[in-house]
Amino acid sequence: MLFGADYYPEHWPEERWEVDAGLMQKAGFNIVRLAEFAWVKMEPEPGRFDFEWLTKALRVLHSHGIQAVIGTPTATPPAWLCTSKPAIMRVDEQRRQVTFGNRQQSCINQPEYREHSKIIVDALAKAVGNDEAVYGWQIDNEFGPLCYCELCQRKFQEWLKAKYHSLEALEAAWGTIFWSQTYTDWLQIPLPWATTGTPNPSLALDFRRFFADCYAEYQQMQIDIIRKHSPKPITHNFMGLWPEVLNYQQLADQLDFVSWDNYPFGNTDPATVAASHDTMRGYKKQNFWVMEQMSGPGGWGEMAPTPKPGRIREWTFQAVGRGADAISYFRWRVCRYGTEQYWHGILNHDGTTNRRYAEIKSIREELARIEPYLEGSTVKAELAFINDYDSRFAFQYQKSNHAFSYVGLLISLYRGLYDRNVAVDILSRDWDLSNYKLVVAPSHFVLTEERARILRNYVEAGGHLVMTYRSAVKDVTGLIFNEPLPGLLQEVFGAVVAEYHSPQPDEENAIGGIEGATHGIISEAKVWLDVMDLTTAEALARYEAGFAPGSVAITRNKFGAGTAYYIGTHPSQEFCSALMEQIAIQSGIRFSIDTPAGVEASVRTGSNGELLFLVNHNDYPCSVRLPYPYEGLVGGSVVDGLLELDDYGVAVLRRV
Ligand code: GLA
Ligand code: ZN
Repeated sequence: MLFGADYYPEHWPEERWEVDAGLMQKAGFNIVRLAEFAWVKMEPEPGRFDFEWLTKALRVLHSHGIQAVIGTPTATPPAWLCTSKPAIMRVDEQRRQVTFGNRQQSCINQPEYREHSKIIVDALAKAVGNDEAVYGWQIDNEFGPLCYCELCQRKFQEWLKAKYHSLEALEAAWGTIFWSQTYTDWLQIPLPWATTGTPNPSLALDFRRFFADCYAEYQQMQIDIIRKHSPKPITHNFMGLWPEVLNYQQLADQLDFVSWDNYPFGNTDPATVAASHDTMRGYKKQNFWVMEQMSGPGGWGEMAPTPKPGRIREWTFQAVGRGADAISYFRWRVCRYGTEQYWHGILNHDGTTNRRYAEIKSIREELARIEPYLEGSTVKAELAFINDYDSRFAFQYQKSNHAFSYVGLLISLYRGLYDRNVAVDILSRDWDLSNYKLVVAPSHFVLTEERARILRNYVEAGGHLVMTYRSAVKDVTGLIFNEPLPGLLQEVFGAVVAEYHSPQPDEENAIGGIEGATHGIISEAKVWLDVMDLTTAEALARYEAGFAPGSVAITRNKFGAGTAYYIGTHPSQEFCSALMEQIAIQSGIRFSIDTPAGVEASVRTGSNGELLFLVNHNDYPCSVRLPYPYEGLVGGSVVDGLLELDDYGVAVLRRV
């Protein structure tokens, strides 16, 4: 297990490094991430390089048993570059050029920025690529911002030309006849600038795909350079399930392992954190790293709450229980200057240790006890969610309803299963679905023929599929299907959308109890109302009041050897949870252990058996009845099969 912190030796005098490394060693650290913003320290002026400080820092760390992930510093091009080559600066959606003074300020497509990126990455990789103290690499830092400069526009036009070959094909794919947007020259094609107002949705969808390609190209460029000098594994630090900007799957495909930055802030709902972990594990169907784990109050202007005693431990064990194999806390010591003066981590401004240091040190001791069993183990799920970036791109231009949230819906369906401790894989590409008993595809707005075929075959072969409102609305280029919705899948669902309605905030719509369920929950129906016409499906629930009382809202259809469910609206959380639980039972999902509300259970299985992680997210103690005999490895005390957890308490148990 790798355990450590994000460390910035360049922020502290050299004499201090030894003290830092000593304190890290005492806390059981064996990894740090270094240097991802230190461009100007590595290249103080064009073409003059200095890596002596970095290799010195590596020596100090390594003499204390610590290796480093080296970040390429391309998120912070120095002032000498940004001011001498103003064309490299990014342009925002409003067509304003970003000015120097923060980070992520350049256009990743500008040739001069690329050239300088290549030079610094090459020099860095050459300097430390084979150093025994280097564990691996992180490319850049939290990729994200889009650029709307004229060079990006030209590049987009080229990208379109390569994709569609002719303007006639583009016209058909986008429907450019609408409002006389037919192009007679590729050079006329705009970007979805804010100044234009709502763009052609097909253009916007392609723009987002284009920019995802640009980041992949930029990342691959850096990977190729590193590969020339260094055989070590490469990652990038994602930001969880929430970001809508890029297609993380595409980036993950190029990487050796996935990592992400986890900031639960003290008030973040644990289910959403869990869903991010499950998404990260899903990209490569492999365990992942937490590259930045919040470990102190943070903020640029205002500060988030200080993690109460036990919370860093709670977040750490939640991550490990869901498949994290490495934890790196952000950051080792809060900086005395700069934009992140307030972004605390482990040590205080003055370099002294504190109770957070003590907590992290004892977490390390606890993790050491489970390490032998963690080796080679991971989370095994019978249930998968589909996270579709194309759909998420499209929704950003057409939410359909003011209250719509893609991730919000996904979490609403996920939460009931999470509360019942059902293991879930969140998949963002086409993996083999045949081993999943249930697949949930929330608002799969854009549906390609390929994905439709995969889902159809999955159900036909005996799988259980759940889809929701605003699914299968658009084809691959963003045109609305020329057939009743859900497009391409009416037969699988045995139902069509006869009519739909976008409810307004002051409206009251209700949906009635789920057929066959023991409880008769009546719920509000929010966000969207699909009114379903049945062909072969049966009604599972109907609208009670509001737009279409008596009509069908949720359907179930036998198709081939499997079953397909369509959820036409967004019911309350209580209803969603009951519905998903019922569907999971009908799909043959095995429920794991029962826990009180707010206590999360996850299981990692490997050749050394099964480890049960219990994490109490509540600020009060809870007890859990254990269904089998377990050996306690970490935390909690078991009396007569009843495990007691303190507030924010954790336990790891081995099934015997
Ligand atoms: C992000 C970045 C870090 C730091 C932290 C805290 O996750 O990757 O560099 O800025 O947030 O702000
Ligand atoms: Zn640009």
